[in-house]
Amino acid sequence: MSKVALTGIKPTGIPHIGNYLGAIKPALELTKEFESRYFIADYHAINTIRDGKLLKNLIYEIAAAWLSCGLDPEKSLFYRQSSVPETFELSTILAASTPKGLMNRAHAYKAVTAQNKEAGKDIDDGVNMGLFTYPILMAADILLFDTDVVPVGRDQAQHIEMTADIAQAFNYQYGGDILKIPQGHFSKDTEIVVGIDGRKMSKSYDNVIPLFAPSKQLRKIIMKIVTNSQTVEEPKNPDESHIFSLYKLFAAEKQIEALREKYLAGGMGWGTAKQELYEVIEATVAPIRDNYDRIMSDKTYIDEVLKKGSEKARAVAAATLRRVRSAVGID
Ligand code: ADP
Ligand code: TRP
Repeated sequence: MSKVALTGIKPTGIPHIGNYLGAIKPALELTKEFESRYFIADYHAINTIRDGKLLKNLIYEIAAAWLSCGLDPEKSLFYRQSSVPETFELSTILAASTPKGLMNRAHAYKAVTAQNKEAGKDIDDGVNMGLFTYPILMAADILLFDTDVVPVGRDQAQHIEMTADIAQAFNYQYGGDILKIPQGHFSKDTEIVVGIDGRKMSKSYDNVIPLFAPSKQLRKIIMKIVTNSQTVEEPKNPDESHIFSLYKLFAAEKQIEALREKYLAGGMGWGTAKQELYEVIEATVAPIRDNYDRIMSDKTYIDEVLKKGSEKARAVAAATLRRVRSAVGID
């Protein structure tokens, strides 16, 4: 049997090119080698999104993003986390044996408590139990599907390690290979895609280049990329420019070398560099955007695809859950 790759994306904001290059594209490439499973982590999203209408729409957007980037629901499992209730049963079982101390060490939780401490607030100010137990729910997502590899960005590495720890402890406790131990899969080229201000592209920094913006708006956003005050005549160092680092992610080798020369020679202003960047991004995203617009205009199609996917996913999940329930003595 071939190995299983599984990943999920939270529907918490519009998809951006960091998500595309860092998560969606590398995950879809694994379809060639692995039995692949992709899902929309909607129950993870309610930790932060408290507007039902907004969440509903974001779920459609993420679903359409996956499909327009090439996910083939006939070849991969594609479903909503919320449509596989086995996830939440497994999550409860795993919570019973997960040490609280492990959750205390999770980066996302620690970041909030550190900020609170600095601000002189109670360390748990604004922390909900969903954030605190996030890694357990994520472990359930992964372990329920007998996952071998989890393609994700580096920021998720700790969550995968915790999942492996939780699974190992469970297997040890109940004696046997009940849960498969997963590994992270990190794509090297696009580890961190920079945003228009030079920091990591992230919706929390408000510095994203949206994947599906209409071409005019896309150009406008690219023109806003922050640069230094070098004049047109001055030679520029491509390796210090985030315009160039974004360019490299979209252009072919020859184009990259040609533009590198132009930077070094001087005589090219930042406006031209941004125009060049816009053109390579537009060339890549235009066909995906057309797919996306088409898919988004037919929500019934998205509903049907997800419904079928969830039915198939539940059959796989039920088998794992039977093993787990029997091991703990609740069957
Ligand atoms: P955001 O930082 O915008 O909130 P998420 O945390 O929802 O994005 O990330 C969803 C997926 O996209 C994750 O697998 C994450 O590693 C990947 N990802 C997000 N931003 C980037 C980026 N700037 N570069 C590479 N990958 C990214
Ligand atoms: N935590 C992941 C993120 O923020 C999303 C996620 C939830 C996930 N469950 C998962 C990713 C299971 C991989 C496997 O990006």
